[in-house]
Amino acid sequence: MSTTLTVNGASATLDLPADTPLLWALRDGLHLTGTKYGCGVAACGACTVMVDGVAVRSCQTALGDVAGASVTTIEGLGTPEALHAVQAAWIDHQVAQCGYCQSGQIMQAAGLLAANPNPTPADIDAAMDGNLCRCGAYPRIRAAVLDAANRLREV
Ligand code: FES
Ligand code: FES
Repeated sequence: MSTTLTVNGASATLDLPADTPLLWALRDGLHLTGTKYGCGVAACGACTVMVDGVAVRSCQTALGDVAGASVTTIEGLGTPEALHAVQAAWIDHQVAQCGYCQSGQIMQAAGLLAANPNPTPADIDAAMDGNLCRCGAYPRIRAAVLDAANRLREV
């Protein structure tokens, strides 16, 4: 069966079973490999993308459930010429270590700031709590999210 949705602003039609996890539809169907597989059970956050502006775990989101929706992946969040504020803050804070968790962290942070432009440190901790980083970059992740919130308020 085919499913049509919008991915990073462009229409995409995927001829895959409706229960295909969105993660694999993006990676294998559209070759958008910035979205990572970590656990497959919604427990790590590596696969986080935004669906209609809300951060979701793509490993536990069925393709059929996002028919007609607008999906944003790390590849579509900003451009090299016009980075999203979260991406710019991430670079300035040199957040990434191995990098594996980072696209999920950035998408989760972007989702948080879309919903809450003035997060407190506690709000950030709560929103980012489920995004694991085996490199332990948590202090820089939190600093970068706060910085990104400030940047967005200045726009
Ligand atoms: S791969 Fe989806 S939450 Fe871990
Ligand atoms: S930067 Fe290595 S897992 Fe997070």
